[in-house]
Amino acid sequence: MENNNGSLVFTMPRIGEKAPEFKAVTTQGDINFPEQLAGSWVILFSHPADFTPVCTSEFITFAFLEEKFMKANCMLVGLSIDGIYSHIAWLRTIKEKIEYKGMKNVEVNFPLIEDITMEIATKYGMIQPGESSTKAVRAVFVIDPKGIIRTIIYYPLSLGRNFDELYRVVIALQTADNFSVATPADWQPGDDVIISPAGSCSAAKERMEGKDDLVCQDWFFCSKKLDKDKVLKSIIKD
Ligand code: BEZ
Repeated sequence: MENNNGSLVFTMPRIGEKAPEFKAVTTQGDINFPEQLAGSWVILFSHPADFTPVCTSEFITFAFLEEKFMKANCMLVGLSIDGIYSHIAWLRTIKEKIEYKGMKNVEVNFPLIEDITMEIATKYGMIQPGESSTKAVRAVFVIDPKGIIRTIIYYPLSLGRNFDELYRVVIALQTADNFSVATPADWQPGDDVIISPAGSCSAAKERMEGKDDLVCQDWFFCSKKLDKDKVLKSIIKD
C-alpha cells in the first residue's frame, strides 16, 4: 500500500484485532481464512522460503508436534512466498530424505499457503524490508476460536522458532480464558497463576485481609494455586 507521498506503507495487524481475512490456495486445498477455522485456535506462521535449512528443521518439528497441538484444539497453517508446486516438491523431499533430531519420514499434513503475490504476507506484516523485501520473516500469529489475534511473535530469518514456547503460549492463553487469570513469567501448567490487580481501594484492602484462596504479597501482586490436571482437562481433548 502507498501513502500520499508515494512511499510504501506496511500494515501490521495487532493483538486484540480480528485476523485479516483472505482466500488462498494451500497444499491441502483452498482455504477461507479465518472463517473456515472458526471454533479452533490457529497458529498462522510464515517462513522465508521452501528448500532452506532452518525452515526445513521447523517444518519437521511442527509436523511432528501437529497432533499435540490438535489435541489442544489448535490448527497449524503455514505460509511462504513460494508457489504451490515448490511447496509440494519441498514437502515431498522433507518426507523422503530429511532427518532432524531423530525425526524422519515426517509428513506435513497441515496446510501450507502459496503467496507468490505477497498479498497475504503484506497484509499480516510478515514482510519486514530491513530483514528482506522478498522473503517473509518467521512470524507467528496465535488466533482464537473467534478469529481474534491473541499473540504475535516475530523471529528473524536466521533464528529457528522454539516450539515448546509456542505450545506454552497456546496452553497459557486458553488457561487465561478458561479460569479468568493471568500467567506469570515462565509459567507452566501446575504453577501458580496471577489474579488481575485490584481495581479499587476497597478491593485492594480486601485482598490484603487474606480473602479466598489468594496469596497476596502486596495488594497488586496476588496469586493462587491452579491444579495442573484441572488446567489440562479444560484444554486437552484425547
Ligand atoms: C533458512 O531457513 O535456512 C533460511 C532462510 C532464509 C535466510 C536464511 C536462512
